Amino acid sequence: MKISIIGIGKVGSTISFVIAKDGLASELVLYNRTREIAHAEALDIQQAVALTPHRLLVRDGDIEDTAKSDIIILAVSAPMTKEMKSRAELLLSNTQIMLSLIPLLVRHSPQAIFINVSNPVDALTYQIWQIARQHSKQIHWQQVIGTGTLIDSARFRDLLASQLGIHPADINAYILGEHGDGQFAALSSAMCGGEFIDANPLRQQMVEDAKQSAWTIFQTKGYTNYTVSLAVELIVRSIVEDLRSTLPVSVSIDGYCNVYSCCLSVPCVIGRQGIHRRLETQLNERETLAFQNCAHVIQQQIQF
Ligand code: 2OP
Repeated sequence: MKISIIGIGKVGSTISFVIAKDGLASELVLYNRTREIAHAEALDIQQAVALTPHRLLVRDGDIEDTAKSDIIILAVSAPMTKEMKSRAELLLSNTQIMLSLIPLLVRHSPQAIFINVSNPVDALTYQIWQIARQHSKQIHWQQVIGTGTLIDSARFRDLLASQLGIHPADINAYILGEHGDGQFAALSSAMCGGEFIDANPLRQQMVEDAKQSAWTIFQTKGYTNYTVSLAVELIVRSIVEDLRSTLPVSVSIDGYCNVYSCCLSVPCVIGRQGIHRRLETQLNERETLAFQNCAHVIQQQIQF
């Protein structure tokens, strides 16, 4: 299993460490515009692997060194500054970065599954898919995944868990739609141990609190890295071990809630081929409108 990580900043380096620590690859290639950074991180992680039971090669490399990757993780981004009010402000710069990298990456690894972490994750994942398909006839939409609302769902479940006194992993509640202001909790289908989780006003407040918490972290430390890194780890593990886990991730939407031509998060079954199925969560009228509203927002962001 060869995994390449593109962009070795705070997020890319944490993702690399988590994957190495869990032995999810036999080879990790770290690519960064400033090669010395990738070299130093690769060396640090390779030495850490000596304290694990795993055998794995970690190295820095150029784009050519990513050839024949099974998974490519896109964590490259223009810097997010504290003045920014929305992830969408990164769109123009990050589109330019993806336009320069994706054609090369796809040429060298047409079979790879691409996991995009960079923001604004939904519009960018859609554009990555568009660029990829222009450069390879072989690539399918199932190979392009954005971390989407997996992160937001973790934040929401964490709050729900402390309120319900139940472990977050046992709570079946998804934040769906956009990884941004339009996200919503699919509460009408949220369950725990076969019981519906009622949609009282407190829960709506939790959705807002979960959304806001990202900005609180961001305003204080300047970035978020742990939740997103474990979100990527879950996706990677599900691919590597063909687990068929159901995770809410950003994928190309084709008709769900009458939405087309954009990427948004819906629960997806993830395995060795990438997305095996998009699940069609039953949404009530309010949730359906919220999903369609997210699509409208993302379609306005998408540039091609
Ligand atoms: C997050 O929500 C910043 O999108 C990133 O953690």
